[in-house]
Amino acid sequence: MADLSVDLGFCRLKNPLIPASGTFGYGEEFVPFMDLDIIGALVLKGIYRNARPGNPPPRLFETPAGLLNSIGLAGPGADELQGVIRRLSATTRTPIIVNVCGQDDAEFAEVAGIFAAMPEVAMLELNISCPNIKRGGACPAQDEKHTYRLVKRVKENIAKPLIVKLSPNAADIVAVARAAQEAGADALSLVNTFLGLAVDLEKRRPVFANTLAGLSGPAIKPLALRLVWEVCRQVRIPVIGMGGITSGKDVLEYILVGASAVQIGTVNFCEPAAAVRILAELEKEMEKLRLNNLNEIKGKLAV
Ligand code: FUM
Repeated sequence: MADLSVDLGFCRLKNPLIPASGTFGYGEEFVPFMDLDIIGALVLKGIYRNARPGNPPPRLFETPAGLLNSIGLAGPGADELQGVIRRLSATTRTPIIVNVCGQDDAEFAEVAGIFAAMPEVAMLELNISCPNIKRGGACPAQDEKHTYRLVKRVKENIAKPLIVKLSPNAADIVAVARAAQEAGADALSLVNTFLGLAVDLEKRRPVFANTLAGLSGPAIKPLALRLVWEVCRQVRIPVIGMGGITSGKDVLEYILVGASAVQIGTVNFCEPAAAVRILAELEKEMEKLRLNNLNEIKGKLAV
Protein backbone atom coordinates (compact mmCIF):
# COMPACT_ATOMS: atom_id res chain seq x y z
CA MET A 1 0.00 0.00 0.00
CA ALA A 2 1.25 3.50 -0.87
CA ASP A 3 2.64 5.83 1.80
CA LEU A 4 0.13 8.68 2.05
CA SER A 5 2.01 10.72 4.63
CA VAL A 6 3.07 14.29 3.84
CA ASP A 7 5.79 16.48 5.24
CA LEU A 8 4.94 20.08 6.11
CA GLY A 9 8.46 20.71 7.37
CA PHE A 10 7.33 21.54 10.89
CA CYS A 11 5.21 18.37 11.13
CA ARG A 12 4.29 15.20 9.29
CA LEU A 13 0.64 14.35 8.59
CA LYS A 14 -0.53 10.77 8.06
CA ASN A 15 -2.22 11.84 4.83
CA PRO A 16 -2.82 15.11 2.92
CA LEU A 17 -6.57 15.45 3.64
CA ILE A 18 -7.62 18.34 5.88
CA PRO A 19 -11.26 19.46 6.18
CA ALA A 20 -11.33 23.22 5.57
CA SER A 21 -12.34 25.86 8.07
CA GLY A 22 -16.01 26.74 8.05
CA THR A 23 -17.05 23.48 6.41
CA PHE A 24 -16.40 21.09 9.30
CA GLY A 25 -17.89 22.94 12.28
CA TYR A 26 -15.73 22.51 15.36
CA GLY A 27 -14.96 18.88 14.54
CA GLU A 28 -17.34 17.37 17.10
CA GLU A 29 -20.34 17.66 14.74
CA PHE A 30 -18.65 15.20 12.36
CA VAL A 31 -17.99 12.44 14.91
CA PRO A 32 -21.31 10.68 13.99
CA PHE A 33 -20.25 10.56 10.33
CA MET A 34 -16.61 9.50 10.41
CA ASP A 35 -13.63 8.49 12.49
CA LEU A 36 -11.72 11.77 12.84
CA ASP A 37 -8.49 9.79 13.26
CA ILE A 38 -8.43 8.93 9.55
CA ILE A 39 -7.84 12.50 8.34
CA GLY A 40 -4.46 14.24 8.18
CA ALA A 41 -5.52 17.20 10.33
CA LEU A 42 -8.64 19.31 10.77
CA VAL A 43 -9.27 23.05 10.73
CA LEU A 44 -11.93 24.42 13.05
CA LYS A 45 -14.39 27.14 12.05
CA GLY A 46 -12.86 30.62 12.34
CA ILE A 47 -12.80 32.25 15.77
CA TYR A 48 -12.63 35.80 17.15
CA ARG A 49 -11.97 36.90 20.75
CA ASN A 50 -15.70 37.37 21.41
CA ALA A 51 -18.87 35.71 20.16
CA ARG A 52 -20.23 37.02 16.85
CA PRO A 53 -23.70 36.59 15.35
CA GLY A 54 -22.41 36.75 11.76
CA ASN A 55 -24.23 38.24 8.77
CA PRO A 56 -28.03 38.46 8.43
CA PRO A 57 -29.74 35.75 6.31
CA PRO A 58 -29.71 34.62 3.60
CA ARG A 59 -26.19 33.28 4.06
CA LEU A 60 -26.02 30.61 1.36
CA PHE A 61 -26.92 30.56 -2.33
CA GLU A 62 -26.31 27.61 -4.64
CA THR A 63 -24.88 28.18 -8.11
CA PRO A 64 -24.13 25.68 -10.89
CA ALA A 65 -21.38 23.48 -9.36
CA GLY A 66 -20.78 26.02 -6.62
CA LEU A 67 -21.91 27.68 -3.43
CA LEU A 68 -21.91 31.36 -2.50
CA ASN A 69 -21.66 32.04 1.23
CA SER A 70 -21.88 35.11 3.37
CA ILE A 71 -21.75 33.67 6.88
CA GLY A 72 -19.76 36.53 8.34
CA LEU A 73 -17.62 34.32 10.57
CA ALA A 74 -20.33 33.69 13.17
CA GLY A 75 -18.89 31.94 16.20
CA PRO A 76 -18.92 31.47 19.96
CA GLY A 77 -15.73 33.37 20.89
CA ALA A 78 -12.38 32.16 22.18
CA ASP A 79 -13.39 31.19 25.73
CA GLU A 80 -16.09 28.76 24.62
CA LEU A 81 -13.93 27.32 21.84
CA GLN A 82 -11.19 26.41 24.31
CA GLY A 83 -13.64 24.07 26.06
CA VAL A 84 -14.70 22.55 22.73
CA ILE A 85 -11.06 21.91 21.80
CA ARG A 86 -10.37 20.16 25.12
CA ARG A 87 -13.35 17.84 24.50
CA LEU A 88 -12.40 17.29 20.86
CA SER A 89 -8.80 16.40 21.66
CA ALA A 90 -10.09 13.68 24.00
CA THR A 91 -11.86 12.04 21.04
CA THR A 92 -9.12 12.22 18.38
CA ARG A 93 -5.36 12.23 17.98
CA THR A 94 -5.60 14.04 14.65
CA PRO A 95 -3.82 17.43 14.76
CA ILE A 96 -6.21 20.30 15.49
CA ILE A 97 -5.73 23.58 13.60
CA VAL A 98 -7.43 26.73 14.89
CA ASN A 99 -8.53 29.27 12.28
CA VAL A 100 -7.72 32.64 13.84
CA CYS A 101 -9.69 35.81 13.02
CA GLY A 102 -9.52 39.40 14.20
CA GLN A 103 -11.19 42.75 13.64
CA ASP A 104 -7.76 44.37 13.68
CA ASP A 105 -4.12 43.31 13.98
CA ALA A 106 -4.20 43.44 17.78
CA GLU A 107 -7.15 41.03 17.95
CA PHE A 108 -5.53 38.63 15.46
CA ALA A 109 -2.43 38.55 17.69
CA GLU A 110 -4.44 38.15 20.89
CA VAL A 111 -6.57 35.28 19.55
CA ALA A 112 -3.49 33.58 18.10
CA GLY A 113 -1.76 33.85 21.48
CA ILE A 114 -4.70 32.27 23.32
CA PHE A 115 -4.83 29.18 21.10
CA ALA A 116 -1.09 28.81 20.54
CA ALA A 117 -0.82 28.39 24.32
CA MET A 118 -3.14 25.35 24.28
CA PRO A 119 -1.25 22.02 24.20
CA GLU A 120 -4.23 20.48 22.36
CA VAL A 121 -3.70 22.82 19.38
CA ALA A 122 -1.09 21.67 16.84
CA MET A 123 -0.95 24.80 14.69
CA LEU A 124 -2.84 27.91 13.69
CA GLU A 125 -4.29 29.09 10.41
CA LEU A 126 -4.48 32.88 10.10
CA ASN A 127 -7.70 33.83 8.34
CA ILE A 128 -6.75 37.06 6.61
CA SER A 129 -8.87 36.29 3.57
CA CYS A 130 -12.56 36.13 4.49
CA PRO A 131 -14.46 38.22 1.90
CA ASN A 132 -17.61 38.58 4.00
CA ILE A 133 -16.65 40.96 6.77
CA LYS A 134 -16.00 44.33 5.18
CA ARG A 135 -17.95 45.92 2.33
CA GLY A 136 -16.59 45.04 -1.07
CA GLY A 137 -14.87 41.95 0.33
CA ALA A 138 -11.85 43.87 1.64
CA CYS A 139 -9.47 41.79 3.77
CA PRO A 140 -5.77 41.96 4.83
CA ALA A 141 -4.80 39.31 2.24
CA GLN A 142 -5.53 41.77 -0.56
CA ASP A 143 -2.53 43.85 0.43
CA GLU A 144 1.02 42.52 0.72
CA LYS A 145 2.15 45.26 3.12
CA HIS A 146 -0.71 44.60 5.51
CA THR A 147 -0.13 40.85 5.22
CA TYR A 148 3.56 41.26 6.09
CA ARG A 149 2.83 43.50 9.10
CA LEU A 150 0.10 41.26 10.45
CA VAL A 151 1.88 37.94 10.00
CA LYS A 152 5.01 39.34 11.64
CA ARG A 153 3.04 40.60 14.61
CA VAL A 154 1.23 37.30 15.08
CA LYS A 155 4.42 35.25 14.72
CA GLU A 156 6.09 37.36 17.41
CA ASN A 157 3.24 36.45 19.75
CA ILE A 158 3.24 32.66 19.31
CA ALA A 159 5.52 29.64 19.40
CA LYS A 160 3.44 27.36 17.17
CA PRO A 161 3.46 26.80 13.40
CA LEU A 162 1.43 29.39 11.50
CA ILE A 163 -0.38 28.74 8.22
CA VAL A 164 -1.53 31.90 6.44
CA LYS A 165 -4.72 31.57 4.40
CA LEU A 166 -4.65 33.62 1.21
CA SER A 167 -7.33 35.23 -0.93
CA PRO A 168 -7.87 34.66 -4.66
CA ASN A 169 -9.23 38.22 -4.74
CA ALA A 170 -5.80 39.81 -4.28
CA ALA A 171 -4.51 41.65 -7.33
CA ASP A 172 -1.20 39.77 -7.00
CA ILE A 173 -1.50 36.64 -4.87
CA VAL A 174 2.16 35.73 -5.44
CA ALA A 175 3.28 39.05 -3.93
CA VAL A 176 1.04 38.43 -0.90
CA ALA A 177 2.35 34.86 -0.58
CA ARG A 178 5.93 36.14 -0.62
CA ALA A 179 5.09 38.80 1.97
CA ALA A 180 3.61 36.16 4.30
CA GLN A 181 6.69 33.97 3.83
CA GLU A 182 9.10 36.84 4.53
CA ALA A 183 7.13 37.73 7.66
CA GLY A 184 7.65 34.23 9.02
CA ALA A 185 4.67 32.14 7.88
CA ASP A 186 5.43 28.41 8.19
CA ALA A 187 2.98 27.46 5.44
CA LEU A 188 0.33 28.95 3.19
CA SER A 189 -3.17 27.74 2.49
CA LEU A 190 -4.99 28.84 -0.65
CA VAL A 191 -7.45 29.73 -1.85
CA ASN A 192 -10.29 31.15 0.21
CA THR A 193 -13.47 31.93 -1.74
CA PHE A 194 -13.79 34.04 -4.87
CA LEU A 195 -15.86 37.22 -4.60
CA GLY A 196 -19.17 36.74 -6.38
CA LEU A 197 -22.56 38.37 -6.75
CA ALA A 198 -26.04 36.83 -6.78
CA VAL A 199 -29.07 38.94 -7.66
CA ASP A 200 -32.78 38.64 -6.98
CA LEU A 201 -34.43 39.60 -10.28
CA GLU A 202 -37.88 40.23 -8.80
CA LYS A 203 -36.62 42.48 -6.04
CA ARG A 204 -33.91 43.92 -8.26
CA ARG A 205 -31.54 43.63 -5.33
CA PRO A 206 -28.48 41.57 -4.41
CA VAL A 207 -29.38 38.29 -2.67
CA PHE A 208 -26.93 38.98 0.18
CA ALA A 209 -27.17 41.86 2.66
CA ASN A 210 -23.42 42.38 2.23
CA THR A 211 -23.96 42.52 -1.60
CA LEU A 212 -20.94 40.32 -2.42
CA ALA A 213 -20.29 36.79 -1.17
CA GLY A 214 -17.64 34.06 -1.46
CA LEU A 215 -17.86 31.37 -4.15
CA SER A 216 -16.52 27.86 -3.50
CA GLY A 217 -17.08 24.34 -4.84
CA PRO A 218 -16.15 22.52 -8.07
CA ALA A 219 -16.89 25.67 -10.12
CA ILE A 220 -13.68 27.28 -8.82
CA LYS A 221 -11.35 24.29 -9.11
CA PRO A 222 -9.47 25.27 -12.31
CA LEU A 223 -9.06 28.84 -11.04
CA ALA A 224 -7.82 27.71 -7.64
CA LEU A 225 -5.51 25.09 -9.15
CA ARG A 226 -3.90 27.78 -11.30
CA LEU A 227 -3.26 30.04 -8.31
CA VAL A 228 -1.83 27.17 -6.24
CA TRP A 229 0.48 26.27 -9.14
CA GLU A 230 1.68 29.87 -9.47
CA VAL A 231 2.29 30.34 -5.75
CA CYS A 232 4.04 26.96 -5.35
CA ARG A 233 6.60 27.98 -7.98
CA GLN A 234 7.41 31.21 -6.12
CA VAL A 235 7.68 30.27 -2.44
CA ARG A 236 9.88 27.97 -0.34
CA ILE A 237 7.35 27.16 2.37
CA PRO A 238 4.73 24.39 2.03
CA VAL A 239 1.42 25.21 0.35
CA ILE A 240 -1.88 23.63 1.30
CA GLY A 241 -4.12 23.74 -1.77
CA MET A 242 -7.88 24.01 -1.80
CA GLY A 243 -10.76 24.87 -4.06
CA GLY A 244 -13.41 22.51 -5.40
CA ILE A 245 -11.83 19.21 -4.36
CA THR A 246 -14.35 16.37 -4.50
CA SER A 247 -12.31 13.31 -5.46
CA GLY A 248 -9.03 11.46 -5.00
CA LYS A 249 -8.03 12.57 -8.49
CA ASP A 250 -8.54 16.21 -7.52
CA VAL A 251 -6.19 15.70 -4.57
CA LEU A 252 -3.48 14.34 -6.84
CA GLU A 253 -3.91 17.26 -9.24
CA TYR A 254 -3.22 19.73 -6.42
CA ILE A 255 -0.16 17.72 -5.33
CA LEU A 256 1.05 17.58 -8.93
CA VAL A 257 1.01 21.39 -9.20
CA GLY A 258 3.06 21.62 -6.00
CA ALA A 259 0.76 21.48 -2.97
CA SER A 260 2.05 19.58 0.06
CA ALA A 261 -1.45 18.86 1.38
CA VAL A 262 -5.03 19.84 0.57
CA GLN A 263 -8.12 21.13 2.28
CA ILE A 264 -11.54 19.74 1.49
CA GLY A 265 -14.32 22.30 1.85
CA THR A 266 -17.72 22.64 0.21
CA VAL A 267 -18.14 18.92 -0.44
CA ASN A 268 -18.42 18.39 3.34
CA PHE A 269 -21.79 20.21 3.29
CA CYS A 270 -23.47 17.73 0.96
CA GLU A 271 -21.45 14.66 1.96
CA PRO A 272 -20.30 14.79 5.59
CA ALA A 273 -18.12 11.68 5.20
CA ALA A 274 -16.54 12.94 1.97
CA ALA A 275 -13.03 12.67 3.42
CA VAL A 276 -13.47 8.91 3.93
CA ARG A 277 -14.44 8.39 0.29
CA ILE A 278 -11.79 10.76 -1.04
CA LEU A 279 -9.09 9.00 0.98
CA ALA A 280 -10.12 5.61 -0.44
CA GLU A 281 -10.12 7.09 -3.96
CA LEU A 282 -6.70 8.62 -3.40
CA GLU A 283 -5.27 5.22 -2.44
CA LYS A 284 -6.80 3.62 -5.55
CA GLU A 285 -5.58 6.40 -7.85
CA MET A 286 -2.06 6.10 -6.45
CA GLU A 287 -2.15 2.36 -7.04
CA LYS A 288 -3.32 2.94 -10.62
CA LEU A 289 -0.51 5.44 -11.23
CA ARG A 290 1.98 3.13 -9.47
CA LEU A 291 2.89 5.81 -6.95
CA ASN A 292 4.62 4.63 -3.78
CA ASN A 293 4.33 8.01 -2.12
CA LEU A 294 3.09 11.54 -2.86
CA ASN A 295 6.59 12.95 -3.25
CA GLU A 296 6.88 11.03 -6.50
CA ILE A 297 4.29 13.38 -8.00
CA LYS A 298 4.54 16.56 -5.89
CA GLY A 299 5.33 19.62 -8.04
CA LYS A 300 6.07 17.42 -11.06
CA LEU A 301 3.69 19.14 -13.49
CA ALA A 302 5.60 19.17 -16.79
CA VAL A 303 5.18 22.53 -18.51
O1 FUM B 1 -18.40 34.29 5.85
C1 FUM B 1 -17.63 33.48 6.33
O2 FUM B 1 -17.73 33.08 7.50
C2 FUM B 1 -16.51 33.02 5.49
C3 FUM B 1 -15.31 32.82 6.00
C4 FUM B 1 -14.13 32.64 5.16
O3 FUM B 1 -14.25 32.58 3.94
O4 FUM B 1 -13.04 32.57 5.70
